[in-house]
Amino acid sequence: GAAREVEIHPDRDALVHAAAEHVVALARAAVAARGVFTIALAGGATPRPVYERLAQPSFVGRIDWSRARIFFGDERCVPPDHPESNYRMAREALLDRVPIPAANVHRIAGEDEPEHAARAYERTLRACFGDVEGPPARSFDLVLLGMGDDGHTASLFPGAPAMNEARRWVVPSEIARPHPMWRITLTPVVIDAAAAVTFLVDGASKAERLAHVLEGRDGAERLPAARIAPTHGALRWMIDAEAASQLRGR
Ligand code: 6PG
Repeated sequence: GAAREVEIHPDRDALVHAAAEHVVALARAAVAARGVFTIALAGGATPRPVYERLAQPSFVGRIDWSRARIFFGDERCVPPDHPESNYRMAREALLDRVPIPAANVHRIAGEDEPEHAARAYERTLRACFGDVEGPPARSFDLVLLGMGDDGHTASLFPGAPAMNEARRWVVPSEIARPHPMWRITLTPVVIDAAAAVTFLVDGASKAERLAHVLEGRDGAERLPAARIAPTHGALRWMIDAEAASQLRGR
């Protein structure tokens, strides 16, 4: 893939603003080139203000939402109205506030049996990106990801088999913390086929792990966030100064 870019923003608000501008730029370019913009959203707390920013009056008209197709990088195995649902977060922060047709939003069925839900979502993605063995030639225009303080991304956890998946695009993934729960996650097979993969990371609590991941300190190869590597696409890390505070040369 192309070189990795690391962008450090002075504070969280600057990061949020830059991330929203980044989504707008990629959306406009994709719609101009192919008439459609496909994005996989991240869950967790970090992206929420970015989604809210995109729905604000100054931003909402800059993306042709009728041309956007919304997917999810992962989901917790809970119903769509549950407080831990990534779909619920995205709906509240963004999807209910922008003029996007319901048919353009492809959520993961967190309420279903995990294996069943993973297979169903893989069929949804294959209908969009081509039903091929292994990785598609090209998947999303943009995959947004976060990083957990253990180095996980999406619901790809350190040591879990999902990270080594060579064939499936979507798998169930069981986690132990903060409480035992099933999740559904995209695998690197489909993530690494994206045209752009962008991590959003903020806050001092992520600083040590971020340095570990970005500077390849010992054992980094075990960390899913360090192993995401777009085959042809652009890899970007957008971080705030607090998260960047442990990087060398800062
Ligand atoms: C999720 C995720 C997950 C998240 C990281 C960071 O569903 O929780 O998609 O991978 O991005 O855990 O989460 P925070 O942004 O809440 O720190």
